[in-house]
Amino acid sequence: MSTILQLVALAVYSMVVSASVDKVSFTNVGFGGSFTPVKKLSNIDSDSCTCEVDSAEYFSGANSPLADYLSVHFRGPLTLSKFAFYSSNSFVINNNRSSDDWSRLAYYDSADQISQNVTFLTKAGDDSPCLGKALTYASANGTGAASDSTILEDNNYISSDLEYAIFSNISCPSSGTGKGCGVYRDGIPAFYGFYGVTKMFLFEFELPTETQSNSTSFEYYDLPAIWLLNDHIPRTSQYPNNANCSCWASGCGEYDIFEAMNGTEHNNLYSTFHTYQGISDLGTGIQAYQAFARDTSNVMRGGVIFDSDGNVVSFLSSSTTFESTYSASDVIALVNGISTNETYSSQLASISAASTTSSKSKNGAGSLLPNNNTFMYYLATIVTTFLHVFVI
Ligand SMILES: *[C@@H]1O[C@H](CO)[C@@H](O)[C@H](O)[C@H]1NC(C)=O
Ligand SMILES: *[C@@H]1O[C@H](CO)[C@@H](O)[C@H](O)[C@H]1NC(C)=O
Ligand SMILES: *[C@@H]1O[C@H](CO)[C@@H](O)[C@H](O)[C@H]1NC(C)=O
Ligand SMILES: *[C@@H]1O[C@H](CO)[C@@H](O)[C@H](O)[C@H]1NC(C)=O
Ligand SMILES: *[C@@H]1O[C@H](CO)[C@@H](O)[C@H](O)[C@H]1NC(C)=O
Ligand SMILES: *[C@@H]1O[C@H](CO)[C@@H](O)[C@H](O)[C@H]1NC(C)=O
Ligand SMILES: *[C@@H]1O[C@H](CO)[C@@H](O)[C@H](O)[C@H]1NC(C)=O
Ligand SMILES: *[C@@H]1O[C@H](CO)[C@@H](O)[C@H](O)[C@H]1NC(C)=O
Repeated sequence: MSTILQLVALAVYSMVVSASVDKVSFTNVGFGGSFTPVKKLSNIDSDSCTCEVDSAEYFSGANSPLADYLSVHFRGPLTLSKFAFYSSNSFVINNNRSSDDWSRLAYYDSADQISQNVTFLTKAGDDSPCLGKALTYASANGTGAASDSTILEDNNYISSDLEYAIFSNISCPSSGTGKGCGVYRDGIPAFYGFYGVTKMFLFEFELPTETQSNSTSFEYYDLPAIWLLNDHIPRTSQYPNNANCSCWASGCGEYDIFEAMNGTEHNNLYSTFHTYQGISDLGTGIQAYQAFARDTSNVMRGGVIFDSDGNVVSFLSSSTTFESTYSASDVIALVNGISTNETYSSQLASISAASTTSSKSKNGAGSLLPNNNTFMYYLATIVTTFLHVFVI
């Protein structure tokens, strides 16, 4: 039975896979699980640098673990002209009656140099053998260090490999286990990310082709990205040498909204969950099989909506606006205005309580050894994913 389904699905998949989409939607997002927050950072300036993780912290419910505070990350080649974060008390994408309006709680406009509830941080601080560079305030170009909060300049193009991040302007309490921002590095500017089950991030940006030539000195040559991280990750280490130096490997949460994955597909932008919802390979994550087309010569607009029922939609639409209030019907129009033939949809696996108690390995890249349950969920996800490609 499932073999036949897979064959049918594969046939359909190969027919549609080459087309790019303007909307990628995931349903059933959120599960009951846990991650291990960092408990202690030791000798961070020396080669004996180590980190320890704490006991598991549990999460559950719609969009979890991405219902937690999230920081917003950008990698070049990219120019950011607008950013906005919205929240709503209750909003369900396919239900126009139960939907409340959205309020803009953070905003950046490059041309007008407006920055509200936004702090630009970047990895330009002290280097550490196990943690990499610490966060600092970003200077006006996004990637230099500044001594205090600085608005990103207009025409803020950053080239390949360069990154900065946006946090809110709400300061963290001091570093510590069980405190609002967890354990983090000494001396960094520490701010909360953006919170809530029901939230929306909008962007106006450009992703021009890299003008420098390719070389081995680049890690991400011509691979721009906009993504969300559990805000604990950058405050300890975004690219640690030791998996215990960040909660990432234990699954505290990442969602890639628009990400170019490799040189072959540098003009395709993928949406990907890096959570353990039915998978064991966190690095690969749960990726949509269809991609957005990167427009290298025009302004792009779009973003992501996390609704109250665990529907997550990444989209590109030239109709995206950045008003201080976005009515529920306008948000519905924004996503429903994208025709179904330009939509990719898939359903994430349902996780039973039993399967989430699986043994997480805490070494290396922190991958889970697949047990029978997660393997079956993975298979089921693949099958339903293929089916959903045409049953939208
Ligand atoms: C990570 O932490 C666990 C528990 O504290 C420890 O057993 C393990 O050896 C650590 N792994 C690394 C790579 O340091
Ligand atoms: C809700 O959507 C339905 C079907 O699309 C439509 O007929 C109805 O007018 C909408 N109601 C509101 C309040 O927008
Ligand atoms: C944070 O941003 C809001 C909105 O722009 C502003 O009203 C508030 O004063 C800012 N708070 C701080 C501490 O900068
Ligand atoms: C960004 O600004 C810093 C100063 O804050 C400067 O040192 C650095 O060279 C600039 N980076 C680029 C790519 O221009
Ligand atoms: C700033 O963003 C935070 C994080 O989501 C939010 O809790 C807060 O209400 C926002 N501040 C303002 C002034 O909107
Ligand atoms: C590039 O990334 C896409 C999306 O993850 C993947 O399907 C494809 O196999 C990758 N290509 C190469 C050559 O690695
Ligand atoms: C850049 O070079 C790397 C190898 O160093 C290669 O993997 C990648 O595909 C190249 N990127 C482009 C866009 O050609
Ligand atoms: C999707 O359908 C619309 C109208 O039915 C059509 O105009 C558009 O070209 C189609 N797009 C694709 C990618 O097939």
